[in-house]
Amino acid sequence: MITKGQAAVIGGDKDSPAEGTMRAVVQDGYGTADILRLAQVARPEIGDREVLVRVHAAGLDRGTWHLMTGKPYLLRLAFGVRSPRQPVLGRDVAGTVAAVGSAVTRFAVGDEVYGIAPGSFADFAVAREDKLARKPVNLTFEQAAVVPISALTAQQALSRVGRVRPGQKVLVTGASGGVGSYAVQLAKACGAEVTGVCSTAKLDLVRSLGADHVIDYTHQDFADGEQRYDLVLDIAGNPSLSRLRRALTPTGTLVLVGGEEGGDWTGGTIGRQLRARTVSLFVRQRLTSALNKESGRELESLTDLIEAGRVTPSIDRTFPLAEAPDAMRHLEAGRVRGKVAITVRPPR
Ligand SMILES: NC(=O)c1ccc[n+]([C@@H]2O[C@H](COP(=O)([O-])OP(=O)(O)OC[C@H]3O[C@@H](n4cnc5c(N)ncnc54)[C@H](OP(=O)(O)O)[C@@H]3O)[C@@H](O)[C@H]2O)c1
Repeated sequence: MITKGQAAVIGGDKDSPAEGTMRAVVQDGYGTADILRLAQVARPEIGDREVLVRVHAAGLDRGTWHLMTGKPYLLRLAFGVRSPRQPVLGRDVAGTVAAVGSAVTRFAVGDEVYGIAPGSFADFAVAREDKLARKPVNLTFEQAAVVPISALTAQQALSRVGRVRPGQKVLVTGASGGVGSYAVQLAKACGAEVTGVCSTAKLDLVRSLGADHVIDYTHQDFADGEQRYDLVLDIAGNPSLSRLRRALTPTGTLVLVGGEEGGDWTGGTIGRQLRARTVSLFVRQRLTSALNKESGRELESLTDLIEAGRVTPSIDRTFPLAEAPDAMRHLEAGRVRGKVAITVRPPR
């Protein structure tokens, strides 16, 4: 039986697909990129408040990598203990509306959209209406597909959690990555003075994103006391809390966003987040963390910024759907400058 919103793997020949089927990158369990394979699966069905998107491009992000590996193990409680309940990989999507549920009011068949749709590494994916927005007219589908999760995370960490204000000095670690490449641009768009921290090979990228200053962490310590920041977004996730605090002004704000260095069970961020929130009770600095909220409405406000030319997705490489495993390996190797897109099916 095919569960609504999911895609059952039915095997088949990708050169002569059966009626009602589609190509998809599936995973039968958790593991490395070697477990991914291109298969013919049944097209998913939509519910009343859902939208069927014909996928033109999908975006790759760290969260998708976590869903592939099933690490930290804690996430399996939500996504499936032995194997993911949604066997098709991918979350970020850009495409054309192919069908809408009976209660959908914001979109119609033929609209160009982007947003978050579990199972986006496929010809079709199902998204909740409230997780989609109108695609920016000035972007290709590949560019649009790499926006949603990373840019929403950056926007929410800066504004809702970090409460950034014009003129503030903002430090962004992990500035060359998916979330960081948007954080630098969005902080500039808010009128902040931005310093981006990254490795040597990516300094030019971070400068090109509009950073006022760049710090090569292999040569310079951002916490050496030379400069203090009103707001620090820690996206890289590896500096200790005490180093991050040293980079802050006495009443500055630290927002923890990422981290990959924790154990397999709870991941890199949970322990640091708890420590930060506890310390925050006893000091004048505000130490907190951000968790992405997948909001189509907030994505609409990013559409406006993108169309105004204030934010531009930075694509490192584009891979065809069948090469999704290579895209994963590229991300895993830490070579990505900005974002990686998956081309699924060009619009006709
Ligand atoms: N809180 C949330 O809701 C949320 C949402 C999305 C993502 N995240 C997390 O945020 C983190 C970043 O995500 P992303 O999509 O931006 O990942 P990404 O595209 O892989 O970028 C991570 C960046 O961190 C930098 N980095 C890696 N090792 C580093 C080190 N040792 N020191 C300093 N910087 C280092 C890398 O740049 P260099 O090569 O220049 O070092 C890389 O560009 C991940 O841990 C992800 O899970 C959290």
